[in-house]
Amino acid sequence: MERRLAAEPWYVDRLSIVGSRLTVEGWSMPVPGAGEPADGWFTVNGRRFDAIRYPLPRADVGDVFWMREAAAMCGFEATIGEFAQPYPGGVLEIRRVVPDTPALERGRDSWFKPDPALHADLPDEGRRFRVIGDRDADGFLVSGATDYHRIDRAMQAVAGRRLADFDRVLDWGVGCGRIARHFPAVRAQALTGCDIDADNVAWCAAHLPGRFAHCEMAPPLPFPDASFDAIYGISVFTHLQEPMQSRWLAELARVAARGALIAVTIHGRTAIDFSRLPPAEHRRLVDEVRRRGIVFNGANAQLDGHADHRGEYVNVLHDADYVRNVWSRWFDVLHILPGYILHHDLVMMRRR
Ligand SMILES: C[S@@+](CC[C@H](N)C(=O)[O-])C[C@H]1O[C@@H](n2cnc3c(N)ncnc32)[C@H](O)[C@@H]1O
Repeated sequence: MERRLAAEPWYVDRLSIVGSRLTVEGWSMPVPGAGEPADGWFTVNGRRFDAIRYPLPRADVGDVFWMREAAAMCGFEATIGEFAQPYPGGVLEIRRVVPDTPALERGRDSWFKPDPALHADLPDEGRRFRVIGDRDADGFLVSGATDYHRIDRAMQAVAGRRLADFDRVLDWGVGCGRIARHFPAVRAQALTGCDIDADNVAWCAAHLPGRFAHCEMAPPLPFPDASFDAIYGISVFTHLQEPMQSRWLAELARVAARGALIAVTIHGRTAIDFSRLPPAEHRRLVDEVRRRGIVFNGANAQLDGHADHRGEYVNVLHDADYVRNVWSRWFDVLHILPGYILHHDLVMMRRR
């Protein structure tokens, strides 16, 4: 039994606005030994809630995180009335307060819901399902905004600049723009997205500001050397086995300018903790990933019929030390932020 998990996961299950009253329900691992912060355990757009009930029983969450002490007592419900302008700047932010989160990892303590009125034009269910394995439109918007703003916070923490302040940004594996759609439209000239899924790339090109290009499963990308100052790739290395991973690390290093920042995700210990495995199987998988560094974790059919991946698109798990050691051949591996993108760990790197 562990006292804390590296990522201390949390989740917003439901967020409803009725008139000017906002109610948020979710779960967040209880903070061991800490007293309630002055503004309460959760805030909305930097404001106190009128009422918070926390912690509440959540046996379903306790069943998933059986390895975490007191995980079954993690539910919360928070309400606020007189909440007239829920989306300042187009987005609503729910923050949980964990007093000792390192500054670099604070983005993980916020969830973001974008103003649905600004996102009426969505890709259809099939296109959404291919990138996130879920057909729910609201989940597509909340997860995309949350991932975008968390990456943005990590860039600010590491580089002192917002993601949209970089002049040449690549979304590698853009899919149907789940994250790219939150890039500020006024800076769209800075954004390029690419993907092997030609249909999703065409959807992005027709519906989102920015430049979008089709690419192949194996390098090269259709861009000259040193084309980008910042690159992010969410849930792409989670699908490539080692030989293909190495080719893509070399290719990202080629298209990244000297000093460019790279933010990509892996499935590591946090993903294993999320995976509902019984204790013996959980222990076996943690040990195997630690021993082997990168482990094939099953086939993936989500792109079948939509992109020519030649059987190369699968599921893999990474060990953080393996990533630090092996990926440093191509980049300076600056930080690995556990569970920063829900069950993904975010690897922050710099091109030498
Ligand atoms: C799990 S989806 C994530 C999509 C998007 N990054 C997001 O988070 O919504 C993985 C994406 O990577 C794309 N992909 C897979 N292999 C790729 C490659 N070699 N180059 C570029 N994109 C790739 C897939 O087509 C798919 O859109």
